[in-house]
Order: sequence, then C-alpha cells, then structure tokens
Amino acid sequence: MDRKKLEALVNDMSLEEKVMQLVQIPGSEYDSDAEITGVERGQAKDRVKRLAGSTLGIWGSRRLRKIQEEYMKEHPHHIPLMFMLDVIHGHKTVLPCPLGQGAGFDPGAVKKGAELQAREAAADGVHATFSPMADLCRDARWGRIMESTGEDKLLNSRMSAAMVEGYQRHIAACVKHFAAYGAAEGGRDYNNTELSEHTLREPYLRAYGEAIKKDPAMVMTSFNSINGIPATGSTFLMKKILREEFGFKGVLISDWGAVGELVNHGYAEDQKDAALKAMRAGVDIDMCSGCYSGYLEELVKEGTVSPEVLDEAVLRVLNMKNDLGLFEDPFRGLDEDSTPVITEEGRLLAREAVTESLVLLENKEKALPLRKEKNAFIGPFADTKRLQSSWAFSGEDENTVSVSEAAAEVYGAENIKTAAGCTMFDQDAVTARGTCHIDNWQEENERLLKEALETAEWADTVILCLGEDSTQSGEATSKVSLQLPAVQLKLIKEVKKTGKRIVTLIFSGRPLELKEVRELSDALMICWLPGTEGGHGVLDVISGKTSPSGRLPVSLPYTVGQEPLHYDAYPTGRPKPEKGPFEYTSRYLDCENGALYPFGYGLSYTSFEYSDARLSGEKMSARETITASVKVRNTGNMKGSVTVQLYIRDVTGSRVRPVRELADFKKISLNPGAEEVVSFEIKEEMLRFWTAEEKWESEAGKFRVWLCDSSVDGEMLEFRLV
Ligand code: BGC
Repeated sequence: MDRKKLEALVNDMSLEEKVMQLVQIPGSEYDSDAEITGVERGQAKDRVKRLAGSTLGIWGSRRLRKIQEEYMKEHPHHIPLMFMLDVIHGHKTVLPCPLGQGAGFDPGAVKKGAELQAREAAADGVHATFSPMADLCRDARWGRIMESTGEDKLLNSRMSAAMVEGYQRHIAACVKHFAAYGAAEGGRDYNNTELSEHTLREPYLRAYGEAIKKDPAMVMTSFNSINGIPATGSTFLMKKILREEFGFKGVLISDWGAVGELVNHGYAEDQKDAALKAMRAGVDIDMCSGCYSGYLEELVKEGTVSPEVLDEAVLRVLNMKNDLGLFEDPFRGLDEDSTPVITEEGRLLAREAVTESLVLLENKEKALPLRKEKNAFIGPFADTKRLQSSWAFSGEDENTVSVSEAAAEVYGAENIKTAAGCTMFDQDAVTARGTCHIDNWQEENERLLKEALETAEWADTVILCLGEDSTQSGEATSKVSLQLPAVQLKLIKEVKKTGKRIVTLIFSGRPLELKEVRELSDALMICWLPGTEGGHGVLDVISGKTSPSGRLPVSLPYTVGQEPLHYDAYPTGRPKPEKGPFEYTSRYLDCENGALYPFGYGLSYTSFEYSDARLSGEKMSARETITASVKVRNTGNMKGSVTVQLYIRDVTGSRVRPVRELADFKKISLNPGAEEVVSFEIKEEMLRFWTAEEKWESEAGKFRVWLCDSSVDGEMLEFRLV
C-alpha cells in the first residue's frame, strides 16, 4: 500500500479505531497459553480485544491464524493484528545469551544468529521481536546485564547494529530500552538513574544511536527515570534525541506497563495524565498499561491531544504493518506447515556461537584441553538441559544438549562419570520466579556431596560445572552478592581436598566473584548461558577440538563492592601509582581498583606474540587518517583465533577523557607459526566526544594508542591531532 492509501485509511478510521492501533494487549487476552512477562493489568474489555492493534507473547502458526482470522473479520477496516514476541537469543534454536554473544567479539556471527532467530520466529507467525537490548551495563548486580552485550559502547554498538540487520531480514526489530536503563542506581532493576549529559551521551546513548542507523522498525522506552524524569514521559529523550538527533522514524513503544507507571514515579497524577504525558513525549504504542485504551479518546475529544498528533502515531503503526507486508498478506507465516524446526544448519551456527563465547580465564599447567583419562563431570550444571536464559521461553529445554550428553558423545558414556554434587540453590534462595525451598535440603546435599566425592576419587580430572541458575539473571533479578551459592562453593572446596585436577566451568548470566574459585581451580572458564548447543560447544573447547577465543565483554570484579566497574573510567587527580607508596591516592584499602579479570581478556590454548606496533604518522589533521598496525604471530602449536584490540586515550580535553576507550577490534585466525599484520585506520570522527561546549567534536592535542590483547596491556604509542 502506498503512503497516500495509508493516509486515506487513517482518515476513514473512527477515533476509537485510531486509538486502538496504539494499544498493545497481552497475548493472554487471546490465548490462555501466552507467556506473560510482566505484571498482568487485568482483563481488557471486549472492545479493546477486538480493536487493539498489536499483541505480544504468543506464537505458533495454528494459534495465530485462528486469532488473526477472527480479529480481521471483526475489525471495521480489516486491519491485521500485529504479533510481537521477545525473541532475545533464540526462538527454537537458542544461541548463547547476549552477554555470551558479546564475548565472541564477532558482529558477523551475531548478525547471522539474529537472522536465524528471526527466520524461525517468522515461520511461527511472529512479526516483531523486542530485541536488541542496546543498554550499556557496568553493574553486575543488575540481572539484565545478561541481556546486554557488555560494558563497552563500541562493542554494544556493533552488536546491536548487527542484530537489527540480522532480525530485519525476516521480522521487525526493536531497539530497547531507551534510555540508560542499565545505569539503575545500586544495580536495582527499574531504579532511577542519575547521569550527567556527557555520560549519558558518550557511553550510554552510543549503541542505541548506532543501532538506529540500521533503521529498526521500533524503539522501546525504558522503565527508569533519568535525572528525575521518567524516560517514558521524557520529551528530551524521545523528541530531541531520538527523533531529532537520531532521526528515528519508526514506532516508539513503551515498555510493559511503563505508561501507567508514570503515576508511580510521581510524574503523572492518574492514568489519564499518564496517557497525556506519554503522548506528549511521542510514545506511539502503550504496551499493556491500559492508559491509552482508557483515556486517549477522551483526551483527543477534549482537545488536550491534537487529532494530528494522534494521526501521526497511527500512521507510524500502520506504516510498520505495511512494511511487514501485512496488508498484502495478513497470514504471513501462519501456514500450518510453516512451523519452524531446529535444523542441522541452525545447530551448527549455534554451536559455533558457543565456542566463540567461551572465555578461558586460567589454565594452570595446561589443565585444558582435557586428557584422554578419567574425567568426571560434577555439579548442578553437569547434567542439566537448563542452559538457556529466562528470556528464551519459546525455546524448549528438551532440544538442548547438556554437558554430560556431549561428553558422552566425545569420550563414550562408559568412560566418564557424572554427579550433581549439590543442589543448584542454597536453601530459600530467591529467584525471579519466587523462593526456592527444597524439603530435606540438608540431607539431600549431604547425599549429593558423598556421591560427588566418590566420583571425584575415581577421576583424574574433575570438571566442576557450577554457576547461577537462569532464573537468577534477566529482568527483576538484581542481587547484592555476586558469590556462587554457598552450597556450590562448599562443593568445590570439598573436591579440592581430593587433590584431583579441577577444571571449573561457570555458567551464568552475570559476572560473579571468582577470586576464591580461581585459587581452587587449575583451569577456569566462563560459559555464560550457552543455549541449545551449549554442551556441544563446551565440549568442542574443553576436549581441544577448538581453541577458546572468547574475550570478556565485562570486567569481572574481585568483589561486589567495586561495582559499578568498567575499564573506561575517568582518571583522577590522584591516580594510584603502579608501585607504592599508595597513601592518599585513589584506591581501596582492602581491594585492587581494577578487575580480577579485565574487559577484553581471554586465554587461548595457543600463544600469540604482538610485535612491531606502529603508527603510520606522528601527526594528523582532521582530514587525514593514521594507520595503527601490529604484527601478531601464533607462537604455539595449535590453530587459534585472537581478537586484536585498539584502544585510544585522549590525553587532555576540555572535559576529562577515559583512561582508555576501545576504538576498534579485529578477530583473526592463525595457524601455528603464522603471522599477520593487523591494521586499523584512526579517523578524526573516532576522537570526538561531548565537549565542555556541549558539542560532538574532537579537540587538537596528544593521543595515546595501544594495540593489544586486553584493556590493560600493550605497548603505548602516541600521535597528535593538529
Ligand atoms: C521487559 C522488556 C520486554 C517486555 C515485553 C518487559 O517487562 O522490560 O524488555 O520486551 O517486557 O515482554
């Protein structure tokens, strides 16, 4: 349908019909099996159900076809209903959680992964996903760090942009949560954020902006307030930044219930006032708060919301339906035989994504790869299929390959042993889904420990599969402790007493405190929440079929007290010197300043040597570029991939600049003995920031450069921008 026809359609619609295009109601209104992700707001009235423009949380061609047929029959203009779903890291084939995908440092693979997810979702009738989450996250207490690709603005930008491109091959993408949701005070979900404008603009807004350049169909507002104004009612964020500066032309949708929550925030007096404030900010679709369906008609009739503003919002929604081809074919993806199945090709892609995501942190005396000897897989993650996050509800656990299943494939079931070792949770642990009480928890753990120690006695190497259950990361899962459950820590200490070699694998959606675990382990590897092919991917790496190549997309802290923790901090007037005395410098008396394992860090089975780091010039003007290059050689005896990282520091500025910022990265693969010169172009635009004059500009002066293996190493080079 062309624009003229769409406009004519809008003109022909009644006020009620128009308002309802801006209303999204939960799928449970149509189908009792719908996935409810937020707080249910009560039953929509029949008229809302008949006219609401979109719904969420349901999938499956047969179910959706029936709903669409009935809906279109009743709708006065036969405008199709739009089906949306949170396809976050997989629909049927589940890839590693976004934080794991961040660790892969491979936007190309992330794009392919998004395309796979979207293809499967489209075949199940889904029109749009609420992904990517471009929120920068520097705080491991915030459970939604799992849904982010980490703490770095450049990494997040590339990953979010890649996801938009990948998804939009088949369905619509939604960049969320605009904005700065990840900066919640104290790491507590939904909490207020306080950010100066330069901190908001430089690290926090970057990834949304880069993702929006790829033309996503939607952007979602965030729950939090920023500097005292709830995002969902913020004209500064939604109009000035999103629409004017970023040039976003698509549909702006609120998060679940966020319009109504303007009342709780103390920003709107009641639901009607909330509807008005959200409309003023430019929120097109009200997800499930009932404010638009309840009061928008009244607001337009009174003249408080102008009919033109309403029409523009309606047109944006209809435009999205049109772009999705729904006017031509409202039953797109709703053929009974189109139900997606997990394919070998999809599994392979997911398996490679897992191997890329694994971050090897320690490997004392080459504990990994595993030898062909007696290997015991012990711990609550050894034999579980629960390897996907709480946001992969359309993927089924039964399709997942567990670690023990994959180990049996590699070594033969008769040659390995498995034991749970302990329960996943401490007694009465609180998860997003409630309190986990286990009857006879004490006795059960005594029994499991006994069995585990017998298994460990049999083995030469114990592979301890530990971590945090998927219900402990994701939405509403903030924590003030980043420790493994006490019962799991006890397990590792008891196994240590057997004197066996210990390889610890950590499954988790957030960074955990691993200082003690590091000391007790010979090898230590982060596996995130790896998804459907988790077991295979993990075995590919620990068996030595593939060398690990993942890099930390987040700093791993010594202790939770360091949070929020990120490598790109501002310098201080009293930096802590490398060697003492340390008195009266910026430091903790009882902890290092930096991370236990820094951003960008990760080991391989082979070794890489960096040499001959150089810049093509010592000076550049704004119109010129400098090439930074370094020779990288595989000095070990196994093929491996390495992520070469370029960091820059602007030494002086009208505003202080971070001690280092990731400016580019490249992942290369080298055979033993092979070498490659890796080069990056340094351009003036990479040096811009939000200056003291409140402009995006670079400033002449000295810059430092590192070409290196993590955010804390590398030889320092210098150039000047003139
Ligand atoms: C979450 C969003 C999600 C939405 C729809 C909300 O609770 O914050 O990320 O897309 O629910 O399920």
